[in-house]
Amino acid sequence: MNQETKKIFEKYKNLVEQKLDEYIPVKYPEKIWESMRYSVLAGGKRLRPVMTLETCRVLCGSYEQAVPAACAIEMLHSQSLIHDDLPCMDNDDYRRGKLTNHKVFGESTAVLAGDALLSFAPQVILQQTPSTVPSEVLLKVLEEFVVAAGAEKLISGQVVDIDSEGKQISEDTLNFIHENKTGALFKLSMRTGALLAGAENEKLQAVTDYAQKIGLAFQIMDDILDVTSTLEELGKTPGKDAQENKVTYVSFYGMEASKKRVSSLCQEACDILEKHGIKSDILKAIAQSINERVN
Ligand code: IPE
Ligand code: IPE
Ligand code: MG
Ligand code: MG
Ligand code: MG
Repeated sequence: MNQETKKIFEKYKNLVEQKLDEYIPVKYPEKIWESMRYSVLAGGKRLRPVMTLETCRVLCGSYEQAVPAACAIEMLHSQSLIHDDLPCMDNDDYRRGKLTNHKVFGESTAVLAGDALLSFAPQVILQQTPSTVPSEVLLKVLEEFVVAAGAEKLISGQVVDIDSEGKQISEDTLNFIHENKTGALFKLSMRTGALLAGAENEKLQAVTDYAQKIGLAFQIMDDILDVTSTLEELGKTPGKDAQENKVTYVSFYGMEASKKRVSSLCQEACDILEKHGIKSDILKAIAQSINERVN
């Protein structure tokens, strides 16, 4: 990412951080709100909300109307991480360079913080989206949000991921896991920005196709970094996939083939933007930087 693009990315990221802080209050019973804030405000790359804001901007010239939904998507992402880290799931002690939620607040509060974020996120979309957004658009955004969060998408990916530990699975099953546990949120991020921009079908489909490529590339890179990176760099414990007997792209196809697949998916994602005249330096840079990312 060049300096200019990095600056714009940081501007979006700072806005998201500031709004997340503003949207999630501390009130009675403080424990639950503090636990939600602990994970949501723990840092993180904020890639998904930035993608929502930039997609909205590039398709209609402004991004303000997408700020609440972008923050809600980050809350959903944080929820998925809190639950993903639980001892009954991936059993992780570190996330975003800090102790995981259950390590600090205990398992019962971590489960409840995830639950709370899952319902608070659509509440934020409903209560904070400006009234200039037509109600049929808002309804569509909400529908896509709850579908992506639920048993048809993210949860189905997580269920098959956990069920596949220590098993021989097919290529189709591996793709099902990646597509749903990770890809669904990337698609939601891009489609939400496009829907709020009032984008026509061709553009909506183009950003969906871009997100499909990026989502898969992102999870393959996550599988690669689990093998090659360190706790300091990653902010989470490496080597966990092998420890938990996960089937990953690296365990299935090997390291070299996985790296090649990331590169080709990123190129394909850039080509989609180009073909459909979506002129966004940020979206292009995100695609180009996935195979260089270190955390
Ligand atoms: C982690 O996502 C979970 C995966 C889908 C691999 P990120 O790598 O985007 O996590 P944060 O938000 O930056 O912590
Ligand atoms: C991420 O998969 C999927 C979700 C959190 C929904 P991983 O289990 O590989 O993510 P990390 O490596 O713990 O971030
Ligand atoms: Mg997992
Ligand atoms: Mg995990
Ligand atoms: Mg991982």
